[in-house]
Amino acid sequence: MMSQNTDPREDLMSDGSIDLKADARARAYSIPLEDYHVADPALFQADAMWPYFERLRKEAPVHYSKGDEEVGPYWSVTRYNDIMTVDTTHQVFSSDAHLGGITIRNFDEDFVLPMFIAMDQPKHDIQRKTVSPIVSPANLGRLEGIIRERVCGILDALPINEPFDWVDKVSIELTTQMLATLFDFPWEERRKLTRWSDIATASPESGLIESEEARRAELLECLAYFTNLWNERVNLTEPGNDLISMLAHGEATRDMPPMEYLGNVILLIVGGNDTTRNSLTGGLYALSKNPQEEAKLRADPGLIPNMVSEIIRWQTPLAHMRRTALEDYELAGQTIKKGDKVVMWYVSGNRDDTVIENADQFIVDRPNARRHLSFGFGIHRCVGNRLAEMQLKIVWEEILKRFPKIEVLEEPKRVYSTFVKGYERMMVRIPERI
Ligand code: HEM
Repeated sequence: MMSQNTDPREDLMSDGSIDLKADARARAYSIPLEDYHVADPALFQADAMWPYFERLRKEAPVHYSKGDEEVGPYWSVTRYNDIMTVDTTHQVFSSDAHLGGITIRNFDEDFVLPMFIAMDQPKHDIQRKTVSPIVSPANLGRLEGIIRERVCGILDALPINEPFDWVDKVSIELTTQMLATLFDFPWEERRKLTRWSDIATASPESGLIESEEARRAELLECLAYFTNLWNERVNLTEPGNDLISMLAHGEATRDMPPMEYLGNVILLIVGGNDTTRNSLTGGLYALSKNPQEEAKLRADPGLIPNMVSEIIRWQTPLAHMRRTALEDYELAGQTIKKGDKVVMWYVSGNRDDTVIENADQFIVDRPNARRHLSFGFGIHRCVGNRLAEMQLKIVWEEILKRFPKIEVLEEPKRVYSTFVKGYERMMVRIPERI
């Protein structure tokens, strides 16, 4: 932990823990760079990582960290353009699960979940093609009406003039309903999807799962559940338009082994869940912190599509993606060695003000707002990016039609993770309806 190098006594919280947010800048600039280990979930939970990344971008944009016993040594790539280079040089920077996969924490060697986000060419491309029709323009058009109906249902049921948790009542509920629609999943059991997504990405210390064994047991339940759905759909002569039917009937996926099916299911659940969920909360939070931007938006709702991109940049729902070098590679004057772990910190690249002007600010009418790294680049660029944007656009259109104000009542509780950058709880109150 980086805080070992500073005197923590001055910043003790009432429960005796260290307040990482207080004096984050002073700490970030006083710790020697060779002791830096930014992949510390506590920093992210405290929202205290920003000055560390700022310093890395300025002083050591491609930085080697010794890491800790959890994640081992890794390179941090923190500038926008260097991240683009790594993300688009997939011949050198592998996503392969067997080399560790796509997050800083390696896949467990004895429980590898193969999924196409963690595969290289050519298998990646073939599997990606199988699920791509779900987000074709035609299918998005078909989904738009269903999404709007569900958004309206959720917003109309919100309590007025009474505090409630936006994360649970809106962000989770909406994304879960969306996923249940994409999978044609049994409606009443849809919160199972949320649970499986949460445990798939949870750190062992997060408190969400008791042990690695417990996580595996739940993921195997997920596999059993989805296997039943597969079996029900695989023999239908008229395949459905849902993701499970696409996998069960797709030439590249119909014979995949059970763990590969589980891996791809988890990929689609996590892909469509955490990310959109945290953009929904992050957007409301960003507007509450920037009333002048909210005023602009309310004066001109035509800014919504642009604001959606700005929310996704500002929030950066997945803080990083990781690769493994297949050969030695020179980047920004450093030699990354074959076998090294390379972390692309999207969360930092999105705040690189040599590329994005006033990058720390949230600006609803920012020019080129879609020029962000949150969806990645290259062969793994997010499959669901247009779907996510559409969902967020509809939510904001419907919010503006209904609620003149949504008050954020306290600082949100953030997720303990260096991968999923998001919120566990955000209490709000809606004073009145239009
Ligand atoms: C891949 C972010 C929404 C499905 C990715 C990647 C990122 C990402 C960073 C990896 C890119 C790379 O390695 O270069 C996001 C964000 C979202 C979002 C920020 C919302 C704001 C969705 C949705 C779905 C989805 C709604 C599906 C329903 C996927 C899939 C991949 C992926 C399947 C793997 C693509 C591949 O490996 O070829 N996403 N995502 N995502 N995303 Fe998303």
